Amino acid sequence: MKTKKNNPKVTLVGAGPGDKDLITLKAVKAIEQADFILYDALVNPEILAYAKKSTPTLYVGKRFNNHAFSQDEINQLLVNKAFEYGHVVRLKGGDSFVFGRGSEEIDFIESYAIETAIVPGISSALAVPALQGIPLTKRNVNESFWVITGTTSNGEISKDITLGAQSSATLVILMGLRNFSLIAEEIKKFRHKYTPFAIIQNGSLPNETITIETINNYKNTIDKIDYKSPGIIVIGDVVTEHSAFLDEEIQRVLSASF
Ligand SMILES: C[S@@+](CC[C@H](N)C(=O)[O-])C[C@H]1O[C@@H](n2cnc3c(N)ncnc32)[C@H](O)[C@@H]1O
Repeated sequence: MKTKKNNPKVTLVGAGPGDKDLITLKAVKAIEQADFILYDALVNPEILAYAKKSTPTLYVGKRFNNHAFSQDEINQLLVNKAFEYGHVVRLKGGDSFVFGRGSEEIDFIESYAIETAIVPGISSALAVPALQGIPLTKRNVNESFWVITGTTSNGEISKDITLGAQSSATLVILMGLRNFSLIAEEIKKFRHKYTPFAIIQNGSLPNETITIETINNYKNTIDKIDYKSPGIIVIGDVVTEHSAFLDEEIQRVLSASF
């Protein structure tokens, strides 16, 4: 490790949900000025094109149990690279502080008295439903939205899903695909059986998919889940704002009139 001569600094940059244009100007400026970049699996690699050609990059991604580096190793790399290169940009999918372990990284880096900065990103929790025309709130439909993890650190579903199911909230569940059946059964206990939900995968990317169903029929959707791709589950009456519901309504009216 070299000495602190390069003014070490680490900027945590939210890279948005995937579409390379869904990134802030401040994020682009940070990437342009970076001396070294560490990036995650959910970061669109096209975003790296904003960096100087001479800037080295390192993939430290984690997808499921396939970790390129452990979190401890990533923390240490951030510190080492900052001492070695100067300004390190840590690129993370969506927003670094939404289930992104950004705060842990900041704590570790600051324990070495290295300067840190945050560039917020557009979280998939907000952007992915929006791109499908699903509002997270609608007047007189719901009074809040909750962003919940579908898998806690011990692999179980969060108790907040049970609590959220008892409210009017739109539930936006990240990292929930593998526990989807458990989640759906929990929702069924508290919400009406026609509660709509959407599973959106690879949101904002050309291979984006969406599956919409009502909670009583959730088993119809299980075979459609691609467990290798990131996906968000949105549960609540706001999902009826999706155009698929309009299409269904049109079909019903058309078939009734013939
Ligand atoms: C570890 S969390 C990180 C969330 C990220 N910090 C954010 O703000 O979007 C990863 C989860 O985010 C969700 N996710 C991220 N990008 C997504 C995308 N483009 N489409 C669907 N879900 C996505 C998935 O639930 C995925 O398992």
